[in-house]
Amino acid sequence: MNITITGGAGFLGAMLTHALLHRYKEIAQIRIVDRVEPDLSPYDSRVTAVVADITNPAEMDRLIDARTTHVFHLAAIVSSHAEEDFDLGMKVNLLATQLLLERCRQVNPSIRFVFSSSLAVFGGELPALIEPMTATQPSSSYGTQKAVGELLVNDYGRKGFVDALTVRLPTICIRPGTPNKAASSFVSGIIREPLKGERSNCPVDPSLPLWISSPETVIENIIHASQLPADQIQGYRTLNLPGIQVTPAEMITAMTHIAGEKFAQRVSFETDEAVSSIVSSWPKAFNNAAELSLGFQADKDFRTVLEGYLAKYPVCEEEAC
Ligand SMILES: NC(=O)c1ccc[n+]([C@@H]2O[C@H](COP(=O)([O-])OP(=O)(O)OC[C@H]3O[C@@H](n4cnc5c(N)ncnc54)[C@H](O)[C@@H]3O)[C@@H](O)[C@H]2O)c1
Repeated sequence: MNITITGGAGFLGAMLTHALLHRYKEIAQIRIVDRVEPDLSPYDSRVTAVVADITNPAEMDRLIDARTTHVFHLAAIVSSHAEEDFDLGMKVNLLATQLLLERCRQVNPSIRFVFSSSLAVFGGELPALIEPMTATQPSSSYGTQKAVGELLVNDYGRKGFVDALTVRLPTICIRPGTPNKAASSFVSGIIREPLKGERSNCPVDPSLPLWISSPETVIENIIHASQLPADQIQGYRTLNLPGIQVTPAEMITAMTHIAGEKFAQRVSFETDEAVSSIVSSWPKAFNNAAELSLGFQADKDFRTVLEGYLAKYPVCEEEAC
């Protein structure tokens, strides 16, 4: 296997690199492509860094060549950032996606190309349950850019130019680290920050249902997509990765039960209209029967997600410790 991961220095890219190295002995090379220098110290010599801007057509031959077997296209400008900077979002989320597909088409049409899209492709008057045929009517530039990218992925796949498919990710929770420019950043923040001894704000109605997945389950599902036999990808090449529904209030209650009462007191509830309008437009639940029958996985419940996080990351009993 000869693998390229765009956005490989990012949160999911780093997790994916670790998981692939751990899983597959037959990996000859993983190229981590990112505009920022990745930390290669946790990896072995099979991992190399390509520091490049994927919106630059002149860089394409450094990223993908005739030896490449798999491309995981994770690089993106996330939701609130793409809403603030329309031009950058268009370049990274859309233009680069086509450049990468075109490069695969030129060098080797059998490359398995996995594009990470998002539930943000949905918006407008949504049904209670999203079905595989539910139309995409994004309410953000990020969602629009991802939706157009999905169409390109599907058409390059349908034409036999690239063995491409799209996975639509739920909101990832609990993301370790620090807040980012995703509108959904608070979904992890309202648990992660209190557990670190810091304050956090919930900018949406605490009873708003959210569709989430743990990072570990999403990584399993992205890898599963890269291994799915081509004859199982029937028709439209977009899969809604399984998730679970939970509200901020339920998440905070679970934190109280598992970690203790003081943590919930570190969460404030001040609505941010910009964030609230984006996140409220997203789906609240999906019918994932087709994806589950293909072997994709869902988390059991939020309590299990939280227990998994607590097993890995330290808790700070005192504020600002
Ligand atoms: N984390 C989530 O909740 C979530 C939810 C739905 C979808 N997704 C999608 O999953 C993917 C990975 O998300 P993440 O959370 O790891 O994001 P991230 O922001 O941590 O990583 C994205 C990476 O892309 C890189 N990048 C951006 N522009 C680039 C450019 N022009 N050239 C090269 N590299 C560039 C960044 O430097 C960064 O390292 C993205 O496509 C995102 O849209 C994530």
